[in-house]
Amino acid sequence: MYVYHALKVVEVLPETDEAVTLKFDIPKKLSNQFKAIPGQHLKLKTHIADKVVERFYSICQMGDDYLRVGIKSVPEGVFSQHVFHTIKVGDVLEVMAPQGDFCLPVENVESMQQATQYLFVAAGSGVTPILAMMTYLLENNEHTQIDFVYINAKRQSIMFFEQLEALKNRYMDRLSIVHVLTREPRDLDILSVRPEGERFEQLLSAFVDTEKLDHTYLCGPLPIIEGFRAALIEKGIDKKNIHLELFGTPTSQTVRRPVTHSNSDKQITIISGGRKQIIGLAKGQSILDAAIEAGTNVPFACKGGVCATCKAKMINGSATMDVNYGLEDYEVDLGYVLTCQAHVQTETAVVDFDV
Ligand code: FES
Repeated sequence: MYVYHALKVVEVLPETDEAVTLKFDIPKKLSNQFKAIPGQHLKLKTHIADKVVERFYSICQMGDDYLRVGIKSVPEGVFSQHVFHTIKVGDVLEVMAPQGDFCLPVENVESMQQATQYLFVAAGSGVTPILAMMTYLLENNEHTQIDFVYINAKRQSIMFFEQLEALKNRYMDRLSIVHVLTREPRDLDILSVRPEGERFEQLLSAFVDTEKLDHTYLCGPLPIIEGFRAALIEKGIDKKNIHLELFGTPTSQTVRRPVTHSNSDKQITIISGGRKQIIGLAKGQSILDAAIEAGTNVPFACKGGVCATCKAKMINGSATMDVNYGLEDYEVDLGYVLTCQAHVQTETAVVDFDV
């Protein structure tokens, strides 16, 4: 399931001073496996200074024989710096098939037909999966109405500016885009400061008819998505229709527990990819971190309790989560946990990633 394939980079396109897109050629024999749902991401792997480095990047554009991902340069980002300074057309990277639950429910035809009103909110490179989703909706569902709130520092840092303008011009009566530029003066004060506190509610009240919303997709750093999520819930939007994807520094806002490897007296059994592995658990360590440290091949992305990629079921024993933005209440009742946030409370436990 979690297998890498060697894919060739066929285009490297600068989007802003700090962002590029990489286009991968998808050979015919992999076209089924690499069929992406708008909103999903790819996991990339390469070797940098003799170390294996893996990162997730969202798909911004897709076709029958190609996928394109957006990559923003992060000053301390080993992978993104490597892409900016080294990767060129013709290079080969190892790539996993598209994955992730932050995507349109395209397989549920009825739900796709019924839902017409969408709100998308992104900050910075959070626009990447959202561009893919908005493009799909506008091109394939003529009844879709979209409001998009996009937060950036300044005009020059807006990713996909030309594509967004082209979409807006083509679908004028169905797409409205509100740019919030936190380091540039705009006509309205609310559009020129970083949203926080009451600003979330004010932005929604000023630009979005929340009463009609069917689905909302929020993608950005935790304070932004937390703020909009809370304001939307306050306005009566059902939590299950608010979809989240976290990027940036995922664990900076979430609980960080000290991890000590001494006095570890807990053991957990990890089931993943049909294999069972019994591992020790250090004090304060999450199930996911313990599994990764033991070399188990388990899925994860944000590590911030949002994306639900690390979801697994407690078959035995119990665990508590630090935060949970990714699971519905009924899933928690069924015994699912976000393993990046889950800490085992019993001496032994069995955790199944394959369920
Ligand atoms: S890795 Fe995203 S919720 Fe755990």
